[in-house]
Amino acid sequence: MLQGVPAIVHSPALQRLMATAERVAKTNASVLITGETGSGKEIIARAIHHFSLRCNKPLIDVNCGALPEHLVESELFGYEKGAFSGADSQKVGFFELAHEGTLFLDEIGELEPRTQVKLLRVLDGTPYYRVGGLKKVSVDARIIAATSRDLEDQVAKGAFRNDLFHRLNQIHLHIPPLRERREDIIPLSNFFLHATYPHLTFCEEAKRTLENYHWSGNVRELRNVVLTAAVFCPSETITAHELPSHIQEFRPRFDSSEAPIAAPLDTMEKDLILRALRGTAGHQQKAARILGISRRTLSRKLRSYSLQKG
Ligand SMILES: Nc1ncnc2c1ncn2[C@@H]1O[C@H](COP(=O)(O)OP(=O)(O)OP(=O)(O)O)[C@@H](O)[C@H]1O
Ligand SMILES: [Mg+2]
Repeated sequence: MLQGVPAIVHSPALQRLMATAERVAKTNASVLITGETGSGKEIIARAIHHFSLRCNKPLIDVNCGALPEHLVESELFGYEKGAFSGADSQKVGFFELAHEGTLFLDEIGELEPRTQVKLLRVLDGTPYYRVGGLKKVSVDARIIAATSRDLEDQVAKGAFRNDLFHRLNQIHLHIPPLRERREDIIPLSNFFLHATYPHLTFCEEAKRTLENYHWSGNVRELRNVVLTAAVFCPSETITAHELPSHIQEFRPRFDSSEAPIAAPLDTMEKDLILRALRGTAGHQQKAARILGISRRTLSRKLRSYSLQKG
């Protein structure tokens, strides 16, 4: 576990990401965190606040997807007493609550275009009015936004403002999906398991099964699977049979016996060798390294395929 942050950071990819997060935390730059659902965007946002100079000030978490459109403005910017029917006292908005701290705008891709304009103005540091207010409010909040959507694609489609995108995207942190950092799967599984069931362990086959699955719901899905398996485990060892059947039966695509074989093995090998040589401008030593074979083996194969004389 990382000091002060309840996160497992094992794979080189996540270690690099966390090191960058720690570095950018010390600046005031806006950070956009992207990644598939359940990949840990909120954990990274919290880590940035934790490592920042603002760590003793509030971290205000706003789920933009859960704010009804007619309330967005009053929730973000607050309102004065009597601003509208039902406003029987003054309310401070999320922006003001985050003064001197961090405002975490989660699911930013869900914001309506009308709200995007207002947000942009405030992010640029322009003082604003609370709804129904006469006095301007100035806020100093560090902005972290997160989304599992492809915001650049949203911008291209005209659904997300380009200027707001660039304002939020001063620093971009992308969390790779769990299936692209499989080294994290077992440390995460043990972390979730031992937090509640310190006496349980996984057998080797269960570990392999967990490592091979594609985890489209990422860390959240893994956590649910681990905790459900633990509940139903009759002994102290969780075996592959305690895992849901779709996970037991999952076969990575390259392992599928049904997958058609594109070409005979020697044709595929020859093709790979040629690609490696093209990629290294004919440098045999480098090509051999890419292919994971020795220079001598490469020479022998080149001769056997009549790609090299002698
Ligand atoms: N590296 C990690 N170490 C420990 N727990 C993690 C890690 N990454 C994610 N989790 C846990 O997995 C769950 C999902 O993570 P999180 O809420 O940060 O995902 P998210 O990317 O914000 O997902 P969504 O897009 O659905 O909001 C949480 O319970 C979180 O604590
Ligand atoms: Mg989230």
